[in-house]
Amino acid sequence: MCGIVGYIGPKDTTEVLVEGLRRLEYRGYDSAGIAVVDDDGKLELRRAAGKLRDLERVLAADPAHGSFGLGHTRWATHGRPTEENAHPHRDCSGKLVVIHNGIIENYLELKKELQQRGHTFVTETDTEIVAHLIEDEMKTAGTDLAVSFTAILARLRGIYVLVALHTEAPDTLVAARVGPPLVIGIGEEPGEYFVASDIPAILHHTKNVIFMDDHEVVVLTPGGMEIKTAAGKPVDKQPTRIPWDPIMAEKGGYRHFMLKEIHEQARAVRDTLLGRVSLESEEIFLELAETGLTDDDLRAAERMAIIACGTSWHAGLVGKFLLERLARIPVEVDYASEYRYRSPLVDARTLPVLISQSGETADTLAGLREAKSKGAKTIGICNVVGSMLTREATGTIYTHAGPEIGVASTKAFTSQLVALTLLALKIGQARGVLEKEQFLTIVRHLYHIPAQMERFLADDTEIQQMAQVFQNHSDFLYLGRGVNYPIALEGALKLKEISYIHAEGYPAGEMKHGPIALIDENLPVVAIIPHDAVFEKMLANIAEVKARSGIVIAVTDQANEDLDDTADGVIVVPKTHELLSPLLMVLPLQLMAYHIALLRGCDVDQPRNLAKSVTVE
Ligand code: AGP
Repeated sequence: MCGIVGYIGPKDTTEVLVEGLRRLEYRGYDSAGIAVVDDDGKLELRRAAGKLRDLERVLAADPAHGSFGLGHTRWATHGRPTEENAHPHRDCSGKLVVIHNGIIENYLELKKELQQRGHTFVTETDTEIVAHLIEDEMKTAGTDLAVSFTAILARLRGIYVLVALHTEAPDTLVAARVGPPLVIGIGEEPGEYFVASDIPAILHHTKNVIFMDDHEVVVLTPGGMEIKTAAGKPVDKQPTRIPWDPIMAEKGGYRHFMLKEIHEQARAVRDTLLGRVSLESEEIFLELAETGLTDDDLRAAERMAIIACGTSWHAGLVGKFLLERLARIPVEVDYASEYRYRSPLVDARTLPVLISQSGETADTLAGLREAKSKGAKTIGICNVVGSMLTREATGTIYTHAGPEIGVASTKAFTSQLVALTLLALKIGQARGVLEKEQFLTIVRHLYHIPAQMERFLADDTEIQQMAQVFQNHSDFLYLGRGVNYPIALEGALKLKEISYIHAEGYPAGEMKHGPIALIDENLPVVAIIPHDAVFEKMLANIAEVKARSGIVIAVTDQANEDLDDTADGVIVVPKTHELLSPLLMVLPLQLMAYHIALLRGCDVDQPRNLAKSVTVE
């Protein structure tokens, strides 16, 4: 996810762009850049790796001013977060620049074609090819920026918001959207326009915005705004007046980043899946081979070790079920803080997988180095391009969840589960143990998950009511079995880390070996009970709790009379394949933790004693 802003008008363009990027930094902060065109038609480009303040230092040392321009703060997906890879990107002439949010899936084939036509490239990004594609179109078709820009969109595959300008098209911005959001701001001054990937960038200038829809193109000039479909059909759109204040806007209207990120999970899953599965060819594309982890390496592994911390460790526990079931390979899962000190048995026949949202967790990095020192090739599953984990692992599978600001991990967790599912399918195929039917069943269910998430997350009234009832309890027990035992652990962690209530996750079968002594009328028990092979066993566990006056909140995947008669509260999530059920079972647990913490007046996004990334031991 990146931050995009563009401006035409009488204000200081550089100031407008930098201020806009500052309000979009939550969308990505690997690098930043602006391009402005001065009154002589000269293009001034300033870029910097790192945070926006690094770009501001560049601008302070080498100011740039102009009457129109565009800016970008990057959350890297293709290409390391370097200055060279920072947007905006130029064409060969240096007169045309483009900024981009999204992923151009077919950029490599387009890059090869353009290179054969004499274009030279200077970055590793997918975005740069768009600048050259437009330039090539303008040259061969003899058309202007707007016409050429619209024409090349048909060549692109993937999701994208693009904004471009050309020094020979004064005071003109062209933009298009397929996938990520794009808003147009109608300035207070005549002929003043803004484009931005999100409302916060422009809200302090104007509250009148137009939301672009997919496959629409806009041309902005001081003379006015023209919106058409990519096919050239004019589109008439009325402005919307935004009621938010700027702070609310950064959270997209949500009260906290955590709530926003819970609701972003459908998009995060879609983006993590994008371009990685082909149903036709039954292939999984994980960008591992390019980094030295070939199918032969995957085939040669005799066992795997998943190493992580906290929520990422819970993802690893789910990964064990996925990999052992789909790839038929033995998997150990370790806390990184334990793994690094226990002289683990690892060698070239072991395939360690390190899971980390931040890619900077000290214990996980130490686990990585321990495994590498013993000759293993390693896979990272990470949400931040260019983080230490991605630089030191042999290969990385990126979760495209976008920056996760809330300390309590939510969208990164479900994206990690998707990455682990894809890895299990990939290794199962490499080892020749995955049946075609199995592959197709999992992939088809996986594709339905985002819509199922959106459907469930559309209304959390019932969970808010439950939070009202249970907010003052001092202890909770979370129970699950099989692939949902890790979800019991994750639900407990979410509650304790943001509401400060003590909560424990336990395998439901273990309750009779001790925790059942805790059951009384003051202890809420959250039971995760999908209709799977152990449904009856879970139902029996619930009855054991009720027989001791315990309180039961059941999370299940279809209404059931026995459950309604036994549990005190029942939350139903959509049904999916057993191995994918954690992706949906976790949603009510995230929301319940959020609403209870809110009612208890806790700082949901920055809970006490915690940090988003534990970079110390
Ligand atoms: C999860 O909600 C916590 N914030 C924490 O357990 C986190 O998962 C853990 O610190 C690991 O972080 P990482 O994924 O960035 O390595």
